[in-house]
Amino acid sequence: MTPHTSTVLRAEQHQAGGPGRSSWLVPAALVALGTVPVVAGSLRLADLSGAATGMPVDPRYDASPLPVVTHIVCATVFAIVGAFQFAPRLRQRRPAWHRRAGRVLVVAGLGVALSALWLNQFFPRAEASREVLYPLRLAFGTAMVVTIVLGFRAARRRDFTRHRAWMIRSYAIGLVAGTQVLTLGLGARILGTHDVTTALLMAFAWVVNLAVAERAIRTGPRRRRAPERSAQPASP
Ligand code: HEM
Repeated sequence: MTPHTSTVLRAEQHQAGGPGRSSWLVPAALVALGTVPVVAGSLRLADLSGAATGMPVDPRYDASPLPVVTHIVCATVFAIVGAFQFAPRLRQRRPAWHRRAGRVLVVAGLGVALSALWLNQFFPRAEASREVLYPLRLAFGTAMVVTIVLGFRAARRRDFTRHRAWMIRSYAIGLVAGTQVLTLGLGARILGTHDVTTALLMAFAWVVNLAVAERAIRTGPRRRRAPERSAQPASP
């Protein structure tokens, strides 16, 4: 273990107040955030396999299911397994698990991004959604590929500060579907459900995710305050 690695690990030992229940709060929140799109994805997969799910019919998916199946399977792995990369105790106690899961996530993340780019290119939505969402999905799908590659390369170079930053960004870009549930749910109540409004609320989810990601990157792993020294008797 290099001195740099041990410093990172020591800093992470204090993340979220050190060992204890709180170190699972971030992964639990991230799993919760991904739940709705992951469940929607499972229903879509059931729908494509012929089960009656009550999902709105989408003839585009029936006509060529492979890209959407790839997208949903990869996104489910990326959202759920990815959340546990943010568990400091798991990283410390099972570094081999973190590395193995990381490799799976690189493949799943690239699968999400590349299938998203395919869907965006060949299953475009009409009018306003297309004008707002098409270029954004193109930009963020590409950004997701780039951030994953940069994060993976940084890990190979053992530059863990950059690895952490790029991987947090890629996860933030990928988990947008979860945040969209919130921006659409709250935003539609206030701003209505016009086509352009809906597209802008979906786009806004990326702004939220990336703002949170940049803050997490800049704040770094939270450190516990050093224990106070025992009080020395005052000098006479
Ligand atoms: C963990 C993250 C993600 C999850 C769980 C997820 C989930 C899904 C699901 C379930 C669908 C099918 C929707 C339906 O049945 O109508 C879908 C479609 C799609 N997703 Fe994702 N997705 C994720 C990330 C992304 C990202 C990062 C992008 C763009 C960069 C993206 C772009 C698309 C596109 C373009 C479609 C097709 C939309 C259409 O019907 O026109 N997704 N996604």
